[in-house]
Amino acid sequence: MSLHERMFGLAGHARLYHRLVRPFFGPMYDRIAADVAGAGLPAGARVLDAGTGPGRVPLAIARTLPEARVDGVDLSAAMIDEARRSAAAAGLADRVTFTVADVAALPFTDATFDLIVSSMSLHHWADPAAGVRELRRVLRPGGRMWIYDARVALGRGEVPGIPSRREPVRTGRLPFRLVGRLVI
Ligand SMILES: C[S@@+](CC[C@H](N)C(=O)[O-])C[C@H]1O[C@@H](n2cnc3c(N)ncnc32)[C@H](O)[C@@H]1O
Repeated sequence: MSLHERMFGLAGHARLYHRLVRPFFGPMYDRIAADVAGAGLPAGARVLDAGTGPGRVPLAIARTLPEARVDGVDLSAAMIDEARRSAAAAGLADRVTFTVADVAALPFTDATFDLIVSSMSLHHWADPAAGVRELRRVLRPGGRMWIYDARVALGRGEVPGIPSRREPVRTGRLPFRLVGRLVI
């Protein structure tokens, strides 16, 4: 695992990471959950968060969509431990599952998910094209993938042969329009 993938050590300190980023990323988590809630998913839909860190996005999605099953994957075992702890504390562990996995090698069968999201993780992936291809494999035909990240990093997720477009995202808290999303 590269230093960048490990966030220069911070990926091993899930609670510290969460304390540091919550003031900035919290509104983005809410925005992602609101986007997912507005996606018109059927009851029982499956949603994946790729590079979930301490798992706050899946928990926010599960709260807004009481009938969805949500998965989160992350390379860091420490992040996944913290995510599982939070899901249990929130009483959501029956619908939210966290797994240690690389986005480029996912333990899911083809076409498992109706919707895939990712927040602020793409810029850490060692092989973004492999990650996007693998995420597309586990996305059902006609499903949607929304990768939120710093606008300057979105180009890393643009893969020849996979149609995508960039959109600006207003999170309400970040002082300038730093974040965008890649829609695939
Ligand atoms: C900046 S954190 C973002 C975490 C969370 N999505 C958030 O918005 O707070 C980046 C996360 O990506 C994870 N990561 C980096 N490379 C990855 C990969 N190839 N596959 C899965 N997760 C990865 C790191 O372990 C880290 O938890």
